[in-house]
Amino acid sequence: MMTAKLILGKEVSGNIYAELRERIATLKAKGITPGLAVVLVGDDPASQVYVRMKGKKCEELGMHSVTVVLPKETTQAELLAKVAELNRDPAIHGFLVQLPLPKGLDEEAVINAIDPAKDVDCFHPYNVGKMLIGEPDFLPATPAGIQQMLVRSGVETAGRHVVVVGRSNIVGKPMAAMMLQKGRGADATVTITNSKTRDLPAITRQADILVVAIGKPKFITADMVKEGAVVIDVGTNRVPDATAPKGSRLVGDVDFEVVKEKAAAITPVPGGVGPMTICMLMANTVHAAEKRASGQ
Ligand code: GUN
Repeated sequence: MMTAKLILGKEVSGNIYAELRERIATLKAKGITPGLAVVLVGDDPASQVYVRMKGKKCEELGMHSVTVVLPKETTQAELLAKVAELNRDPAIHGFLVQLPLPKGLDEEAVINAIDPAKDVDCFHPYNVGKMLIGEPDFLPATPAGIQQMLVRSGVETAGRHVVVVGRSNIVGKPMAAMMLQKGRGADATVTITNSKTRDLPAITRQADILVVAIGKPKFITADMVKEGAVVIDVGTNRVPDATAPKGSRLVGDVDFEVVKEKAAAITPVPGGVGPMTICMLMANTVHAAEKRASGQ
């Protein structure tokens, strides 16, 4: 029995923000203010919260921030026109269209229309391909944030078995693609599992590092984790809780209370991976501005 060390996104992101502030100051000394635009279509409450947080963080860092809110009746042509406008806007170094989009809008066509040089989400197939061949221009925010948590907490990845539970385009697939690359925070042996995987516990128990992004509350139980493993919980599931002020609370994909007694290190929910996503989005925007400033 052991009680796991907590890996906290607030701590790790705090260190990265300190570095970003210096890079932003260097850009500003050259007359460049990194600019991020976020497009929100419709009125999904969770998306509204995320979009507000992204704008707020830009302002805190002294970056240029534009939030574009479009009604849920927006047509595909209108949305593509907005994307084209942001592609041309010199004050914007990076932008994203918040997902999911309202019904009737084609997400894939919208992502394909974004200039890859401004694709700070790293969702465009060009950037996904570059990442896969090990020559990334950008890294997708959540997996990049997890990699930073591992590196900056001193978790060795080289030669170790990383098991990823979940295969989404936003987390599972890019996480696996990043961990199998050569280099620091990678060089791992990687297994990707999904909801159809047979005898999942037999596989998760082999993990030295277990990354869980399956979207099911408390899905990973103690019997699925090897003693001494590092457990990264990407889940953000809202579950009813009559004792909570909001009537609900956030829980991860990992049964934290029991797994923390077995793991060497674990990320809590909330306070674990969550803060890293916006942090890495800001890092990608600063990177885009530096890249343009250097004429690349
Ligand atoms: N919806 C949930 N996460 C994300 C994200 O990282 N980027 C975008 N564009 N939409 C999201």
